[in-house]
Amino acid sequence: MATATLSQSMPGPRGLPFVGGKLNLIRLLTGSFQFMRDMHDTYGNMVAFAKNDPSYVFAFGPELNHQVLSRADVFEVSGGLLRIPKGTAIERLLKNNLAVMNGTHHKQQRKLMQPAFHRQQISAYGDDMVTLTQRMLDRWQGESEVNLIREMKQLTQRIAVKTLFGLYDEAELDRIGGLLRKLIDMSSSPLFFIAPFDVPGLPYHTLLRLGDELEAFIRSAIAQKRSRPDDTDVLAAMMHVRDEDGSKLSDEEMIGHAFALFVAGHETTSNALAWTVFLLNQHPRVAADLLDELDSVLHGEPPTLEQLGRLPLLEGVIKESLRLLPPAGLGMRVAAEPTELGGYALPKGTTVIYSELVTHRLPELYPEPDRFKPERWATINRSTYEFLPFSAGPHMCIGWAFAMQELRIVLAMLMQRYRLSIVPGTKLGVDIRMTPRPAMPMRIYPQDRQFQRVSVRGNIHKLVDLR
Ligand code: HEM
Repeated sequence: MATATLSQSMPGPRGLPFVGGKLNLIRLLTGSFQFMRDMHDTYGNMVAFAKNDPSYVFAFGPELNHQVLSRADVFEVSGGLLRIPKGTAIERLLKNNLAVMNGTHHKQQRKLMQPAFHRQQISAYGDDMVTLTQRMLDRWQGESEVNLIREMKQLTQRIAVKTLFGLYDEAELDRIGGLLRKLIDMSSSPLFFIAPFDVPGLPYHTLLRLGDELEAFIRSAIAQKRSRPDDTDVLAAMMHVRDEDGSKLSDEEMIGHAFALFVAGHETTSNALAWTVFLLNQHPRVAADLLDELDSVLHGEPPTLEQLGRLPLLEGVIKESLRLLPPAGLGMRVAAEPTELGGYALPKGTTVIYSELVTHRLPELYPEPDRFKPERWATINRSTYEFLPFSAGPHMCIGWAFAMQELRIVLAMLMQRYRLSIVPGTKLGVDIRMTPRPAMPMRIYPQDRQFQRVSVRGNIHKLVDLR
């Protein structure tokens, strides 16, 4: 393929003097998915953030997804923006994370973690998922309204902490979940970046102390597990793994991976749950058909793992929700060396942004791409680079089967017991992390099959055709 020079010919909007494409980066980060779609529709599959600025480019569509995601030696994940003091607990927590590792180090660590996510092992987490969902549904008894985002976050957080560490006590589950949550919130506070000083009162200081506390907790959990060889949680599975050459994960590595699993796993899943319930509320016929399917297979009971495989419409509903509102709408890689992509030369250091969201809206793959049509999944089969809510290639989500099982269990149990209906006139937007904003207030009714679409306001109408 002929290779053009990026600055001469890659299409893209004109950059402003001095800032080049940075302004467009800010537009992207402030959550404008419409911006990404406009870039694709106006300029095509390879787009520079700004003409003459080769530092950031978009690569859209299945073919380029394939090239970017499968060539992990050329397109690397980046270590992140954080300036973390060396030798601290927080540094150890953040660096031992698959999502920031490359090359043989990533391969070796991922192989050691894989057994914790084998099919059989994931099945073993099913009971915890059912028990914690049941507790939430029992708690809703007698409530007239819930904030669905908050509820789903709490549930997925509890499931994550329970399956990771095998904690039984609910107060301890919430204490550790709260600690992890605070750590994430602190590290995304603007003050953290502006004032990186270890002075009491500043987020930076708090983050370092939270890091110490969390590390101490995970260390003690590891120590306890050494005396309980029958435990079946993720941490226990990670502890028992040995490579062919006898190598294993160190305590420090396990601590980092446990934290990373919590971070990567719970908010993505809670957003997917909240959006799926919302989409069902907006599509009464689909909701009624789904309830028929659930009733005929489950008869009001929580699903067994074998039954989960006999619910094709539930599967279609989840896939369609992940297609329309994928919890990770975009991803990034950095060129580790000068390379070629889509017919253009990219200098070393170029940041390449690929987009699940844009791929999932290509009309040649998904006719009427903005509409929620779960039935399409009964007749289509899409490759990993055409349907990639969990990404693809060597960094593909290690927890995808865990997440799919969790989504199926929670939705099947929730739908059979309650009918949720969004409060009429709610203003609903979507932020960069695909979190529904500002809230998703839902009225709760015992499941009475009175499905009705309720009108909502806000940016959601730009992302989904709710006619
Ligand atoms: C609906 C729920 C979820 C979605 C949509 C999702 C999506 C993703 C995506 C898009 C990536 C990025 C891959 C890349 O950079 O190419 C990823 C990575 C990852 N996810 Fe998930 N995820 C979900 C749930 C989970 C769960 C439940 C866990 C753990 C229990 C998990 C653990 C991870 C880890 C450890 C990585 C890093 C993998 C690596 O770099 O090798 N995720 N996920």
